[in-house]
Amino acid sequence: MTAVGIDAIEIWTGNLKLDLPGTFAPEKGEDPEKYTKGLGLNASSFPDSYEDIVTMGANAAHRLMERKGLEPDDIGRIDVATESSFDNSKPVSTYVAGCLESVYDGDFHHANKGERKFACIAGTQSLDDAYNWIRAGRNRGRGALVIATDTALYARGDAGEATQGAGAVAMYIDEDPDLIELSTEQGYGSADETDFLKPNQQFPSVDGKRSVQVYLARMREALEDYESVAGDVHPDDFVFAPFHTPFPGMVRKAAMLAYRHVTRDTAVEEELAEEIGRQPRREAFDDEDAFREAVREYMDALKKTDRYQEWYAETVDPTLALSREVGNWYTGSVHIARASALKQALESGRDLTGETLLVGSYGSGAQAEIHAETVQDGWEEEIEALNISEQLEARYDLSWEDYEEVHDAHNHEMDIDVEEFTTPEEEFVFDGWGRMGERK
Ligand code: CAA
Repeated sequence: MTAVGIDAIEIWTGNLKLDLPGTFAPEKGEDPEKYTKGLGLNASSFPDSYEDIVTMGANAAHRLMERKGLEPDDIGRIDVATESSFDNSKPVSTYVAGCLESVYDGDFHHANKGERKFACIAGTQSLDDAYNWIRAGRNRGRGALVIATDTALYARGDAGEATQGAGAVAMYIDEDPDLIELSTEQGYGSADETDFLKPNQQFPSVDGKRSVQVYLARMREALEDYESVAGDVHPDDFVFAPFHTPFPGMVRKAAMLAYRHVTRDTAVEEELAEEIGRQPRREAFDDEDAFREAVREYMDALKKTDRYQEWYAETVDPTLALSREVGNWYTGSVHIARASALKQALESGRDLTGETLLVGSYGSGAQAEIHAETVQDGWEEEIEALNISEQLEARYDLSWEDYEEVHDAHNHEMDIDVEEFTTPEEEFVFDGWGRMGERK
């Protein structure tokens, strides 16, 4: 069977930066380590007043098309995944296509366009749609452009404010991909949840603590479901585990849960048992609270073992490097995690061709999905081409007053005209609500 997967990826960050320990923490009267150590974040990427989901998505897509030498005729499908849409009818992909058409000779009249919504998991769902479209043979030799783009902003004063972010990830899905082959097997965990909502409102209503529990519960279900189709997972089966990263501290919790799950009833559990005892079994406890307490104690002991710490340092920590500097990009977040791990491997001279990634996507409301991916032999060239480090370096560092101003400018309920902090250079810029961006 011909491989189908991600041929190329490009990342576009919001052009501003909010320093969490240096600027945010002092204003909130909090210890900077709450952000750097607790949540695991150093900074958020923030959109300048001329940036929005359309401009960031179009900029990422344009960079990708230029680098891969793609013309509109090569693309048979454009899907945008976002939870920051401003239009309940016309999909964001049409705005993005409009931007791209303004700089290419051809057009996208032949392309199927859509918008995917299921909170942060929509980026992965769009990948799945593209994969299925190609596998079904409906692509007529063309590839699919998948764009995950979000301005993940919270109301000022909301607990989620520290986890904001803004940016876009563009991916080209095709046969014989250079970067990643997607697997057919997937596992799901899905339930009707109300921990994170945006019913016709710009900023989310969030029950933050509950959202953490829902993430963990759905991810565990997805892992079990994945194992039911792909067979039992072992911690050494995959080189990296990129997970949806609203903030790195969330993934720290998910990694522990996943490790405990995949080592249960294995030789690893037996070896660990000499040090910290065997994992608590539900059937050995009369009541749920006592079982939960035993699990908590086991997890506390597990995270201190050398074995777990080495696995975490090798398999999970490299997925978090970009997220630490950009915050939550919602639909793009898990795709940033994958890119981050591959970038770290490239920088340390490691060859990943043929290696497996275990990818955990999640969207509030809520659904988790687990699937495996295989790294392809063009991965080094693809990852080397990313200029995300230079983009991050070039961001304008907001003062607290700047931040308040630009946050207000992005609040749809306020009509505030704010000057630009940065000067757009060869990029699409926001041109008023409901219009496509113009390339400056
Ligand atoms: N030094 C070191 N660590 C510190 C510290 C310090 N001085 N002060 C606090 N911490 C630690 C805390 O112990 C805590 O760690 P643990 O959870 O491991 O105990 C961590 O820092 C955060 O502290 P708080 O729990 O007190 O932080 P908070 O209540 O202000 O906010 C939050 C946390 C509720 C998750 C908030 O960030 C939030 O609402 N975020 C938005 C919702 C979210 O991202 N949920 C994630 C799951 S849902 C999802 O994934 C979808 C999505 O993208 C939104």
